[in-house]
Amino acid sequence: MFKTIIVTSLFFGLASLAGPARAEVDEDFMQTVEDTHKSLTSNLTLQNAESSNTDANLLAGYFAEIEEFFVKKGDAQDGVDLAHKSRELVAAIQQTIAINDFGTAVQTSAELGRTCKACHKLYHDD
Ligand code: HEC
Repeated sequence: MFKTIIVTSLFFGLASLAGPARAEVDEDFMQTVEDTHKSLTSNLTLQNAESSNTDANLLAGYFAEIEEFFVKKGDAQDGVDLAHKSRELVAAIQQTIAINDFGTAVQTSAELGRTCKACHKLYHDD
């Protein structure tokens, strides 16, 4: 079981590294992040493992791009850290889906939501 989890996270880790680099984190992209996060939360609540995995895998890729964006932006260590924390939370969600622990996954998804807000407080005024 645990071996499967490690192999799976390794696979998706590599897949997100191979993804195309995005020039900027803009409104359209962030809207996609928001829609995917909402979809993930509802799929976790419904305990739909397959759809939850699809959403979590998408978010893993998005946050890899967001982290890269803040690395390239320069002088934005908080953004890099929060994007990195988001990736860790998504990885934790993927692992709890794999062991059918949807209760913990929903809580982690809520924590991810707070991480979104923490970054917006610093880099996006609304
Ligand atoms: C590491 C920083 C960071 C994280 C983490 C982050 N965002 Fe954002 N977000 C931004 C920035 C920067 C903008 C402003 C983009 C722009 O307007 O060009 C933004 C804008 C937005 C917007 C507004 C788009 C609009 O139409 O103006 C939404 C919605 C949004 N983010 C959703 C989310 C959600 C949901 C999450 C978490 C699942 C999240 N974001 C995580 C940095 C982040």
